[in-house]
Amino acid sequence: MNLWYRAEMSAKIVPPTSENLQTACSILAAGGLVAMPTETVYGLCADAANPIAIARIYDVKGRPDFNPLIAHIAGLEMAERQGHFSADAKALAGAIWPGPLSMVVNIRDTTSIASIARAGLDSVALREPSHPVARSLISTFGVPLVAPSANLSGRISPTRAQHVFDDLGDRIDLIIDGGACQSGLESTIIDARDAHPALLRLGPIAAPEIDALWPGLKQADLSAEKPVSPGQLLRHYAPNARLRINAITALPDEGYLGFGPVESDLNLSPASDLIEAAANLFDMLRQLDAQYTQIAVAPIPSGGVGDTINERLARAAERA
Ligand code: TXA
Ligand code: MG
Repeated sequence: MNLWYRAEMSAKIVPPTSENLQTACSILAAGGLVAMPTETVYGLCADAANPIAIARIYDVKGRPDFNPLIAHIAGLEMAERQGHFSADAKALAGAIWPGPLSMVVNIRDTTSIASIARAGLDSVALREPSHPVARSLISTFGVPLVAPSANLSGRISPTRAQHVFDDLGDRIDLIIDGGACQSGLESTIIDARDAHPALLRLGPIAAPEIDALWPGLKQADLSAEKPVSPGQLLRHYAPNARLRINAITALPDEGYLGFGPVESDLNLSPASDLIEAAANLFDMLRQLDAQYTQIAVAPIPSGGVGDTINERLARAAERA
């Protein structure tokens, strides 16, 4: 196996033609880094079995090495080669995959996913994305691809190819452009190792949906000193600008991110549609962040995806 791939000066943004997907696979096989669209956010891919390529992921993102990556697979069979699924876990995966749900399971002794990708844990987060481009890239590559969100660590996740270029263009090898991400929020994560699942990260798949398929969903204790999901550190998803949430109006000098029929600089959804708001959230935060040093965000109704939006905003508003 070739373990080292030398990046060119800056990554090309290319359309998802079959020729470009082949090129992407050659780059990945040589240890390179490729950004791909998924239905949640763009991911920065490396061969899950290549520790040096994965070390580059941590390096280019500035990601702490105790924060493990999600391995992306195509089909439950590929997932089961890596980790142990209980009957309940399998049924849940069968019902929701492909889709925005990551499941933490215990690894098999024979797993090919490098220890560095798992931050040394004996568990792994697995996800089968539904985006057609992600699916064909993984199927063509044939083995799992690890992919954290393709942003600088702690910053706003990318929902467009240009966002990836802005953060990482000079440090990675290729960006596959699949347009704007449909959901715009990172996947829901559950711990699927016990008799009952535990919610590790809110996301597009809401808790009641999981609970209906596998009853007894618990809220994991994310305040623990050594969190189960190390990525759930408080300050995250942060713009450079100071963020004020639940703001009915903007103060002078603040950029205003509206929701519903209000006057604003940018509006997440003039029609008060939470799904539309989720898809616009990270793009509009990035746009306002480029223009203002202070951003005020209108109140977002709670419930369903509104809870996930509010959770991401609360973390973005947290000062280091
Ligand atoms: O939607 C998504 O999940 C996107 C796309 C690209 O698939 N990926 C993504 O990856 O958001 P990332 O690296 O930004 O977030 C991965 C999260 C982190 O919070 C990490 O701590 C958690 O998954 N995680 C990974 N492996 C874990 C494990 N074995 N146990 C607990 N948490 C884990
Ligand atoms: Mg991330």
